[in-house]
Amino acid sequence: MSKLGILPLFEQQGVKSSKQVEDYEKIIEEYSKEFRKLVLPKGDTIFGFWMQTLADLDLLDLELGGLTDSYTIDPIHRTVKFSGNSEKLRKRVAHLEKVNGQTTLYTDFVDAYGDTNAYAFHNLYPYKGKFYPRVVRTLINAFGLTENSLILDPFNGSGTTTHEASLMGIQSVGIDITPMGVMITKLKNELLFKKPKDFEFSNDDLIAILNDIERKQWSHEDETIQNLMLVIYFDTIDAFARTSRYKSRGKTGLFIEKFNYVKQCYEKLMVIKEMHGLEFVKANILEDDALRLRDIEEFKEKFDAIITSPPYYFSIDYVGKDKLAYEYLGLDMKKIESKYLGMKNSLPKKKIGGLPAKVIQYYEDLKTSIEGMYNVLKPGGKLAIIVGDSTVSGKKIPTTVMTKRFCEEAGFTFKKLIFNPLLGARNRAIRGESIIICEK
Ligand SMILES: C[S@@+](CC[C@H](N)C(=O)[O-])C[C@H]1O[C@@H](n2cnc3c(N)ncnc32)[C@H](O)[C@@H]1O
Repeated sequence: MSKLGILPLFEQQGVKSSKQVEDYEKIIEEYSKEFRKLVLPKGDTIFGFWMQTLADLDLLDLELGGLTDSYTIDPIHRTVKFSGNSEKLRKRVAHLEKVNGQTTLYTDFVDAYGDTNAYAFHNLYPYKGKFYPRVVRTLINAFGLTENSLILDPFNGSGTTTHEASLMGIQSVGIDITPMGVMITKLKNELLFKKPKDFEFSNDDLIAILNDIERKQWSHEDETIQNLMLVIYFDTIDAFARTSRYKSRGKTGLFIEKFNYVKQCYEKLMVIKEMHGLEFVKANILEDDALRLRDIEEFKEKFDAIITSPPYYFSIDYVGKDKLAYEYLGLDMKKIESKYLGMKNSLPKKKIGGLPAKVIQYYEDLKTSIEGMYNVLKPGGKLAIIVGDSTVSGKKIPTTVMTKRFCEEAGFTFKKLIFNPLLGARNRAIRGESIIICEK
């Protein structure tokens, strides 16, 4: 007999009987109920367990400001009191577990996907330097944006801003210079409007598709499905090139697994969409240069808000990450890289004011892009730029403060900075990121 008191309990419940699974599930259900009673804050409107840092408290404060008429936060008991539209709060808020005793949409996302950020299609592809969707949602709330607003992300990458806006039923425009970023973002956009039958592929179908892709003979009448399979393939071969961990599953096994993951993401999303009566909208995705913002006449004073993060150029090799994909697509990586912020001109290797010339070039481009952002925002429009300070050759590069300065020089009024520590970040050069909030 085991020394652990819990085992006899399981035995009494019939763990060894033929009804093992059913009984086990009952035990865990009971357990979860009791566990929740013990760990959840007491109250009707309570913090989500994912609120872990003081920055999260700041973010909650920010979004309640945009979503309620008045509110008070009790950080010790992890509860909130508010007045205003509770249904809107429940559907929008990113930091609360429950509103007036009912689980929020965000809690349903976290529960369904088992993750606070990988819900809907946010985790479709492991793009480097990706936003936390929760932060985007918070900023949309904080800025008081509605279904009639228009959001821009001029460094949209894999489209976290535009995807989150689409999930919230808000129109947006996303610009990025990289074909891979644009391809992934467009996919996230289109997958929201697919039908269950679009995902009907047997394992044999998938094996045949994988073979076709490898022989460069893959095509499908539906462009979204065609690109989805390609993106899953790129993710598969990249995972294989990086680690031997997946060898046992084989390329085919991993390809099928990744496809099924996307299919499940779709199915879960449709359940939540129905449950909360969500209306998705499509974003407008452009492969273009953020430095052109000043020149696009039709964009002048068109946007209500910009939520963006320029490339952390000195820490992250955005294009290199997708080397295999670019090779497959026959795209010239050098040409793509040359359009990157700070990479336009071939520069002398000298230093200017103690900083490498390439850092100066990067700052010049960053400044130009911020001037462009000023140009396209409506008067009173809101700007959130998320930046981190990286280290080049052992020297810290003062990007956060420079960015704030460029915003002010462009004409913005600086409102607030929230420093969000990246706990457990792999890249130790970036300890955290700052959210710089400004108004035109
Ligand atoms: C920090 S990442 C943004 C990631 C994005 N927030 C996401 O969640 O996927 C910065 C992006 O800026 C893009 N970029 C770099 N130079 C650009 C330029 N001149 N115009 C537009 N986008 C550019 C890069 O391709 C990269 O995707």
